[in-house]
Amino acid sequence: MPPPTPIEPKAVEAITADATMAEATPAGQPATSGFRFRCIACGDLTDSAVQNFRCSRCGDLLEITNPNWSHAQGSSTPAAADLKATWKQRRVSLSPVDLSGVWRFRELLPTLENLHHVITLREGNTPLYDLPQCSRMVGLPHLFAKHQGMNPTGSFKDTGMTVAASFARQAGFRWVACASTGNTSASMAAYAARGGLRSLVLVPEGKISWSKLSQALDYGAVTCQLRTDFDGCLRLLQELVLRAPVYQLNSINPFRLEGQKTLAFELLEQLDWQPPDHIIVPGGNLGNSSAIGKALLEMHDLGLISRLPKLSVIQAEGANALVRTLREAGGKRLITVQAETAATAIRIGNPASWKKAIRVLQATGGACEQVSEVEIARAKAEIGAEGIGCEPASAVTLAGLKKLLKRGFVKPGESVVLVLTGHLLKDPGFTMEFHRGELLPATAESDPEASQLQSLRRPPIVLDATLDAVIRTLEEQEKSNLRA
Ligand code: F0G
Repeated sequence: MPPPTPIEPKAVEAITADATMAEATPAGQPATSGFRFRCIACGDLTDSAVQNFRCSRCGDLLEITNPNWSHAQGSSTPAAADLKATWKQRRVSLSPVDLSGVWRFRELLPTLENLHHVITLREGNTPLYDLPQCSRMVGLPHLFAKHQGMNPTGSFKDTGMTVAASFARQAGFRWVACASTGNTSASMAAYAARGGLRSLVLVPEGKISWSKLSQALDYGAVTCQLRTDFDGCLRLLQELVLRAPVYQLNSINPFRLEGQKTLAFELLEQLDWQPPDHIIVPGGNLGNSSAIGKALLEMHDLGLISRLPKLSVIQAEGANALVRTLREAGGKRLITVQAETAATAIRIGNPASWKKAIRVLQATGGACEQVSEVEIARAKAEIGAEGIGCEPASAVTLAGLKKLLKRGFVKPGESVVLVLTGHLLKDPGFTMEFHRGELLPATAESDPEASQLQSLRRPPIVLDATLDAVIRTLEEQEKSNLRA
C-alpha cells in the first residue's frame, strides 16, 4: 500500500522554522500486494492519498480495499480454511509480528514492504468475557464482553495505531499527530515513542480525563490543550496536515481502521467462527463501528463466516449526531450537534466517519440508539460489579442493549457481544464521583433509572483505626446485604 503523497516542500518551508522538521518530508515508496485506496462516495481507486486522506476528486473519505478479493473466490482470493489455519498456527509463534493480535491477521491488512517496520506493543489478544450477572439482569443467556480496554495503553486504539504508525514510519515521517478525546492521543504517543517518532497531540482543554492526558505526557508527546472541543481540534488538525510534514493518526486515516478490523477477526476466532447475533459498539467519531463492520463484511465475502451479525451503534444522548442523522435525515446528510456528556471519550458532535458507519449499519441490519447520562452511569457500575469494569463510553453498550431489548430489536435467546472500548482506569474521576454520589446533577436523580443507582454505589468509608470500627462496618454491610 502506498504511503501518502509527499507534502509540497514549499508549504513546509512556509511554516517551519525548525530545519529538522523540514527535512522530515517523507520520500514515500509505493507498496503493492493489491491493496488500494477507494473513495467511499465516488468509488475512485488510487494508489496514493494526500495528507488529509480525502478523495482528490470529490473530497470524501478514503478506505483501503483489495479489489482482487471477490465472491467468485478468484485465484488471488485467500481461502478461508487456509487463513484460519495460518492464524491459529501463529498463536504458538514467538516472532513479534505473530505475538501481535493485529499482525497475526496480516493477510487481511495492507502490506508493509518489510515487517521490520512494524511498531508493536503486542496489541490485540484481548479477552472475551462472559457477563453472568448482566446476563441474568437483562435475561439473555449468551452475553459477552470483548474487552478492548485490555490493550497495552488501555483502549481499542492500539489495534489501529500499530498499523497506521508502522506505515507512517515506513513512509519516512518524523512527526505524527492527532486530535483526541484522550485515548487516541495516549495510544499514538506510545506507538510513536516505540517507533522513534515525535508526536503532537491536540486535545480539548479540560474535557479529557487526567489519566489519558497523563499517558500522552509520559510517553513523550508534545501535548497542546486547545480552547475548543474535539471537533474544533480535528478541524485544526485537518488544516495542519496540509501545511506541515506531520502524518495524521486520527481514524480518518484508513490504515487505523484496517488495524481496528482485527477486533472482529479475533472475536470470531474466539467464538470458533460462529457469529453472534449482535455486536454492540459505542459511537463517537464512528471509526471503530466502521472498521468492525468492514471486517464483518470482508469475513463474509471471503467465506470465513456464513452469516453477518447485526452491528449496532450506541451514542450518548448529548452526543447523538448519528442517531439524529438517521432519524431526522434518513441517513442522507449529517446532523451535527453541540456535544455534551460525562462520557468524554465520545463527546463528539461532528463525526468524521458517519457515512462509513451508516453503510455498515445498513449492510449488517444493525440499529442505532442513544442512552442518557443516568443509564450510562448505571451500566458502568453494573459492568464494574462483574469484576471487569470499563470506562464510561464503553458502558453505553450495556445501556443500549437494554433499550434494544425493550424495543424488540434484540430478542431473548439471541447472542450478544458488547465491545468494551476502554479500561476502567481510564477515567477514575467519573468512577469516584459516581460512588460518592457526586456525578449526576440533582435533577437527574428524579430519573426512574436513578433509583437503581444507590444499590450500586460503594463510597469509601472513613473510620477510626480501631478493630471495633472495622467489625461494626462489616456487620452493617452484612445486615444491609440480608435486607437487599
Ligand atoms: N470508546 C472509547 C473509549 C473511545 O475513546 C472512543 C473514541 C470511542 C468509544 C468511540 O469510537 O470514535 O471510533 O466511534 N475516542 C477517540 C479519541 C475519538 O480521540 O480517543 P469512535
